[in-house]
Amino acid sequence: MYSILKPLLFRLAPERAHHLTVKLFDTALAIPGGKRLFSALYGSNSKSLEREVFGLKFKNPVGLAAGFDKDGKYYHQMSNLGFGFVEIGTVTPKPQGGNPQPRLFRLPTDEALINRMGFNNDGVEAMVERLKRHGKPEGVILGGNIGKNKTTPNDEAVNDYVICFEALHDLVDYFVVNVSSPNTPGLRELQEKGPLTKILKTLVDLNTQYPVQRPILLKIAPDLTDSQLDNIADIVDEVGIDGVIATNTTIDRSGLQTTGDKIEAIGAGGLSGKPVTGRSTEVIRYLASKSQGRWPIVGVGGIDGGPSAAEKIKAGASLVQVYTGLVYQGPGLIKQICQYMTR
Ligand code: FNR
Repeated sequence: MYSILKPLLFRLAPERAHHLTVKLFDTALAIPGGKRLFSALYGSNSKSLEREVFGLKFKNPVGLAAGFDKDGKYYHQMSNLGFGFVEIGTVTPKPQGGNPQPRLFRLPTDEALINRMGFNNDGVEAMVERLKRHGKPEGVILGGNIGKNKTTPNDEAVNDYVICFEALHDLVDYFVVNVSSPNTPGLRELQEKGPLTKILKTLVDLNTQYPVQRPILLKIAPDLTDSQLDNIADIVDEVGIDGVIATNTTIDRSGLQTTGDKIEAIGAGGLSGKPVTGRSTEVIRYLASKSQGRWPIVGVGGIDGGPSAAEKIKAGASLVQVYTGLVYQGPGLIKQICQYMTR
């Protein structure tokens, strides 16, 4: 089905195609018998796919990466595509418009995307309202990816993470602290030891005040050096968070097939998809050697089928996530990965 739809969608501006695609899913699911059809087409029900990671039970290890459903508008629809978990966000305390459009670009020859969305979102209160209205998806783990507003200075960033954490604590199953998007100026400086320890320690302490603790994960950039990764591993151990998501998009543009002129015309942003696969897997492997199994890693970056997902698991990931692969391969990707894992 997607092979018919894809050429039509690729004629539209990428951001428009994104919204249209989820609307199409929504319409198809609303048709009587739609859910059953989606479940037959996209679902995978094998006991061997089940995983228990950071204390949560996943029906399968394939998740939707952050950024696809920034506002918690589509998580029910996306949950019908066979995912074991869906991560919403990045959400910030206050609503913000993000960068001017166009801010999402396709690089078809590289099976990649460049985005500089800039955390466009309706703010955490709007997300809370939606989650209260629609509830958690049945049988699918829901993650909340949290960030800071563009206007919040870095030395006050911790307050933004606290606001989102408190607002969503009863409504999501796990949290992701996003300090790795390249599209909020200065955000990635929060990956440095001092500010990162402060943010994570504050959230870990806050977590203990709730009757049920939510796992807290840290999402990191693929552009960190080995010594920065050493620091990250030390902080995860010292502060006692539950795991790491590796990786976000990259600012690196090396090795692309797309012409230099086109890349230059697109300008700043985070690159995702096939070109980030290798580096993301390297980061996972490096961190896995540091963690020695003490904390799990969620692998994301360029997964476009069973073999690339299996590579991430082999490198040390316990779960995987996809985003750009969905745009190029379509929703059959999730089942394809699950089937590959049960071979
Ligand atoms: C993203 N990604 C992302 N990550 C995040 O933590 N918060 C976010 O808001 C976003 N937003 C976002 C928008 C768009 C358009 C893309 C393509 C990506 C990063 C995403 O979750 C993932 O880490 C990377 O894209 C690498 O995985 P893929 O896309 O290569 O599978």
